[in-house]
Amino acid sequence: MAYQRLDHLIMKIQAIVLAAGMGTRMKSYLPKVLHRVCGQSLVERTIRALKESGVAKTTVVVGSGREQVELELSRIGIGGVDTAVQESQNGTGDAAKSALPNLTEETAVILPGDIPLLSADVLKTAIASIKTEVPLLFVSFKAENPKGFGRVIRDNNGSVVAICEEKDCNDEQRKIDEVNAGIYFCSKSFLEESLSSLNTDNAQGEYYLTDIVSYACEKGLAVEAICVEPAIALQGANSRKDLSALEIVRRSQIAEMLMDNGVTLEDPSQTYVDEGVKVGKDSWLGAGTRLKGSTILADNVVVEGNSIIENCTIGSGSHIKISSSLEDSEVGENTAIGPCAHLRPGSKIGNNCKVGNFVETKKSVLHDGVKAGHLSYLGDAEIFPEANIGAGTITCNYDGTNKHKTQIGKKAFIGSNTCLVAPVEVGDKAYIGAGSTITKKVPDRALGLGRSRQTNKEGWNKD
Ligand code: UD1
Ligand code: CA
Repeated sequence: MAYQRLDHLIMKIQAIVLAAGMGTRMKSYLPKVLHRVCGQSLVERTIRALKESGVAKTTVVVGSGREQVELELSRIGIGGVDTAVQESQNGTGDAAKSALPNLTEETAVILPGDIPLLSADVLKTAIASIKTEVPLLFVSFKAENPKGFGRVIRDNNGSVVAICEEKDCNDEQRKIDEVNAGIYFCSKSFLEESLSSLNTDNAQGEYYLTDIVSYACEKGLAVEAICVEPAIALQGANSRKDLSALEIVRRSQIAEMLMDNGVTLEDPSQTYVDEGVKVGKDSWLGAGTRLKGSTILADNVVVEGNSIIENCTIGSGSHIKISSSLEDSEVGENTAIGPCAHLRPGSKIGNNCKVGNFVETKKSVLHDGVKAGHLSYLGDAEIFPEANIGAGTITCNYDGTNKHKTQIGKKAFIGSNTCLVAPVEVGDKAYIGAGSTITKKVPDRALGLGRSRQTNKEGWNKD
């Protein structure tokens, strides 16, 4: 049978991502491809690299933890991705076979879903080298520690003859440091034919996808292995140790990108910034800072150490003091948060505000210039500009069944240790006496007092 040349087909390429394995070595309830590196699941990283390299169509083979993987694929929401199901996990060859009914393009790239640092650049390098008349090309790399990888077996002329899995290697073969990255480019017709020839006659009793290489060689067809650098970009994550080693590498790459873009990192090795987080120029990140999800920091933002900021936007000139926790919230410009403040989801803090130590906010809007300096809980509240919230102010927003709103007018002054029993309103420029429990509306400019009068018993202490 004559196979079409790969270089003629490369414009129409479909990826098959193998993501059905159990990931036994992870010792996890979570499918391996859902483990994360710098906040992004392994399968998301793979799909993004493919998309960026120009591959328009991707089939993900799912099996173990299928529902969870499918949920993740819909969350990622990248177009041109469909799934094929591998009913039982009989090896990488069997997984690839499960995707054949989905293969509509004439050329396929088959790859595992567990290479976290795989970049579009590496894929493009491989794609660019597809120029010779071969039905099969795969990516190899020189591994510092080849343990666990399939070894690339070459004959005396240096031509590839097979890939031999670690468990099937003899002592001599085990010394080979050129290993299989698990990324194969081939024509659809070759894939169909070679996959139907696989058997389970090997140490693991599985259908090895790697055997398509010896199949081609035995048929006298040239197979090319292109050895790609850097090795780290091709390293699979099979265990927690692999995952943490790769996380450290990616974290330091992200730190370098931030520094290249004008961000100061107090200690890059202790700054944890997720993939995709944006940080503006002249911002400063203290040791222990964690920036997660879709967080965006504008220019000149200071984040003191041990703060965690997830899915938040922070305006320029704002200062997040030590050990604060911010989640799904917005902070305006020149605002100070913390130390030890807690912005829970739905908090919207304006410009020139102060949310001080041990202040917790939830689903609350603090308009420009609002100050809540100490020890407060502000939930389901709207606080208008320049109101001052005294220490220990609590919005009693929950009656045991429902949540209720609190409204505080502009330039209102709430005395310390006030309970605002919601639903309740405090007018503009109104005052609340310290220690009050406020259950009724306080009109504009009024003084609200809700506490018992002080009485003194003279001479009460007989000492
Ligand atoms: C595989 C290769 C090895 C290569 C290495 C590169 C084989 C037999 N071995 O080994 O030569 O050096 O990758 O990283 O291919 N999967 C399924 N269904 C299965 C089994 C696996 O979908 O039945 C998926 C896994 O989810 C994973 C990928 O295939 O994403 C690779 O499987 P894995 O078990 O990690 O293979 P390795 O032992 O790393
Ligand atoms: Ca692997």
